[in-house]
Amino acid sequence: MEKLISFYCNNELVSVQVNPSITLLDFLRNQKKLTGTKEGCREGDCGACTVMLGSLINGKVKYKTVNSCLYPIADVNGKHVVSIEGLNSNELNFIQAQFVDEGGTQCGFCTPGFIISLTNYFVNHTKYSAEDAVAALDGNICRCTGYIGIKRAINNTINYLSHVNNPKKNSIALLIGKNILPQYFSLIPTRLKELHKKNRSFTNQKLIKINIIAGGTDLYVQRWESLLEEDNYFISEEPGLKLISIKQNRVSIGCAVTVEELIESKIIQKYFPFLKMHLELFGSLPIRNRATIAGNIVNASPIGDITNIFLALGANVHLKDKNKKRVVPLNEFYLGYKILNKNKNELVEYVSIPIPGRNFLFNYEKVSRRTYLDIASVNSSISIAFQKGKIKEALLSAGGVAPIPLYLKSTSDYLLNKKINNETINKAVQIANSEISPISDARGSKEYKALLLSQLIKAHFIKLFPEINFDEVIK
Ligand SMILES: Cc1cc2nc3c(=O)[nH]c(=O)nc-3n(C[C@H](O)[C@H](O)[C@H](O)COP(=O)(O)OP(=O)(O)OC[C@H]3O[C@@H](n4cnc5c(N)ncnc54)[C@H](O)[C@@H]3O)c2cc1C
Ligand code: FES
Ligand code: FES
Repeated sequence: MEKLISFYCNNELVSVQVNPSITLLDFLRNQKKLTGTKEGCREGDCGACTVMLGSLINGKVKYKTVNSCLYPIADVNGKHVVSIEGLNSNELNFIQAQFVDEGGTQCGFCTPGFIISLTNYFVNHTKYSAEDAVAALDGNICRCTGYIGIKRAINNTINYLSHVNNPKKNSIALLIGKNILPQYFSLIPTRLKELHKKNRSFTNQKLIKINIIAGGTDLYVQRWESLLEEDNYFISEEPGLKLISIKQNRVSIGCAVTVEELIESKIIQKYFPFLKMHLELFGSLPIRNRATIAGNIVNASPIGDITNIFLALGANVHLKDKNKKRVVPLNEFYLGYKILNKNKNELVEYVSIPIPGRNFLFNYEKVSRRTYLDIASVNSSISIAFQKGKIKEALLSAGGVAPIPLYLKSTSDYLLNKKINNETINKAVQIANSEISPISDARGSKEYKALLLSQLIKAHFIKLFPEINFDEVIK
C-alpha cells in the first residue's frame, strides 16, 4: 500500500515510502514536525493549512496555493512544497515583519496561511494591486485580528516592491533580493529538473483501481479517514487528462482540468469569455486550484456549479473503461440522487461542449448566503441562440430544486421559437415550477427554493435582454 514519493520540502529533498493517501498536512505536521502549517477546519474553508506548491511546467516552476488538509501526498511527487518554515531566513522576512508591525496578527493561528498566500501572489505577479492581492487571500480566514492590519501589511509590501517594480525581471530573483524569499528558491528549477530525470514515471498509473481521487476537495471532506485504507488512483497530475483542445467543433476539457485552469485557458477565454466572471464565484483560489470539472460532475451534488453551467452549455460526458469508450449527454447522466449513468470502473476521460454559434447568449445565477466562498442554495444557467427576434435554441438548468442537477427540458423546449416578452417568461416560469421537486433543508424551505428559481429565470432574461421592458413579469 505504501509508495515512494520524492519531492522538495522547502530546502530539503524528501524521498519517503508512505501511504499515498495521507494528507500533505498530516505529513508535514506529524512526520516532518513542520507545525507552522496549522490544522483548522480540515474542510478547505479556513486556509490555516495553506502551502505553496511548485510544479515543473515546460522547464519553469509554476507556484500555486493549495489546502494541504485536502491534498493527498501522492500528488506532491516531483514538486516543491513550501510551508511557512520554507520562507524563513535568519530573521523575519519583509512580509512577516509587516504583519507584526501593522498588527496583522494576534493569536497567530491563521498567520502562516496568510503569509503563504500573499507570498504566492507576489511570486506570480510583477505588477501589483492591493485589490488583486486581497483577492488572492480569499481562502484565508482570520477569526481574531480582523483584516485592517493585514491590508496595511499588504499596502506596505506593495509600496516596498513598487520602487523596484520591473516587469521584465524574474519575480523569484526580485523577491530573493528583497528579503521575501530565501536564496535557495533560485536552485529549485534545476533541482526539480534533476528529480524528474531520475523519476520519469511520476505520473503513470494504471487504470483502474478502486477509487478515483482527482482534486480531493469533495472526497477528503466527506471521508478522508476511510481513504487511508483504500487502493486509490490519483489522477489530478496526469498530463494527458489535463488538456483543453478543439475537436469536431466542440471544446474538449480533460477530466482533471481544474476550475482555475478553466478560467486561465486561452481556448475557454476565446469561446466562452463570460465563464471567468461566473467561475470566480466558485470556492476560494486554493479550492479552484484543485477542484476538477469531472470531480464536480461525478460528485453529483444537485447544486454543483460546474455541472449546472455545463448542463446549459450542452455538455457531453466521455467515459472509458478497460474495454470501451462511450459518450453520454450530461442531461442524461443523472438517474437519481447520486445515481449515475456510469459503471463503477468507468473513468470520465473528458467533457466536451459545442463551440457557440453566432447570436449566442449565456447567463448564470447563483444565490447563496454569502456572495463568495459559499455553495448555492439555488443556481441556474441558460444559453440561448437568438435570431430575428425569436429564440432558436434554449438550454436551461436548475440546481438545488431536485435530487439531481436538473436540466429543465420542458421549459427549454417551450422557449423554442418564442418571442422574448412578459408572456413568454411568465409561462416559462410556470412550466419550470412543474419540473422541480425541491425539499426543505438547511439552505431553505421548498417554497423559498421554488420562488428563488422563478426569480433566477426572470433574472436571466432581464440581464440578457436589458432593452426589453419586463414590467409585467409576475413579481
Ligand atoms: C471549501 C470548499 C468550497 C467549495 N466550493 C464549491 C463551489 O463554490 N461550487 C461547487 O460546485 N463546488 C464547491 N465545492 C465542492 C468541490 O470543490 C467540487 O465539487 C469539485 O469540483 C470536486 O472536484 P475534485 O476534483 O476535488 O473531486 P474529488 O473529491 O477528487 O472527487 C469527487 C468524486 O468524483 C469522482 N471522480 C473525480 N474525477 C473522476 C473522473 N475523472 N472519473 C470518474 N470519477 C471521478 C471521485 O471518485 C469522487 O467520487 C467546494 C468544496 C470545498 C471543500
Ligand atoms: S484546515 Fe482549514 S482549510 Fe485546511
Ligand atoms: S490572528 Fe488569530 S485567527 Fe487570525
